[in-house]
Amino acid sequence: MYKIKDYYHERAKKEGYRSRAAYKLKEINKRFRLIRKGDYVLDLGCSPGGWLQVAREIVGEGGYVLGVDKLRTLPLQYNNVEIIESDLEDFHTEMKFNVVLSDISPKIMGKRDVDQYRSYILAKKALEVTEKVLEDRGNFLVKIFQSEDVKSFSDDLRKRFGYVKFYRPRSTRKGSSEIYIICKSFRTSCL
Ligand SMILES: C[S@@+](CC[C@H](N)C(=O)[O-])C[C@H]1O[C@@H](n2cnc3c(N)ncnc32)[C@H](O)[C@@H]1O
Repeated sequence: MYKIKDYYHERAKKEGYRSRAAYKLKEINKRFRLIRKGDYVLDLGCSPGGWLQVAREIVGEGGYVLGVDKLRTLPLQYNNVEIIESDLEDFHTEMKFNVVLSDISPKIMGKRDVDQYRSYILAKKALEVTEKVLEDRGNFLVKIFQSEDVKSFSDDLRKRFGYVKFYRPRSTRKGSSEIYIICKSFRTSCL
């Protein structure tokens, strides 16, 4: 377990990524092509900023990345990456995006069912934001802790997206109950 943790942690440090989470997004995007060059990407729960860095690499100069987190995130030195310090509950924007990412995690309390439930509530909130800002046929990536609620959440996702798949990246820590849900081809007509 620690070997794997150290490997990605050390690699992130060496390669200049702000978090080991960067490798999860790289792996997911290589496999599912959620983000493309020129896309407008909203990254919910972006701090410390590993996903912001990876998203910017993919969208390039012609795209745009907006990060949101209740914690402060150090700025990135690109004029097409912006960061808003806000709780998800208070976040509003008039902008539209091709892709929404949510790596939001609750603060772990150590009581498994409480942590799972809070993760489910945050994932639902991320979907609520997504419904307001995602372009037709856009993509959504959301993290959730595995629990009984995941079934009803994924049923909701299937009503809104043409493609929904569960995925656990190789770089996920062993013992973690987190799972990512890949959603493609948003149907604005379902709203
Ligand atoms: C696992 S970290 C994200 C790591 C990030 N993807 C990266 O690559 O660096 C989860 C983040 O969710 C944020 N978060 C949790 N609850 C939140 C909320 N209600 N509103 C905004 N951000 C929240 C936390 O502050 C934390 O920074």
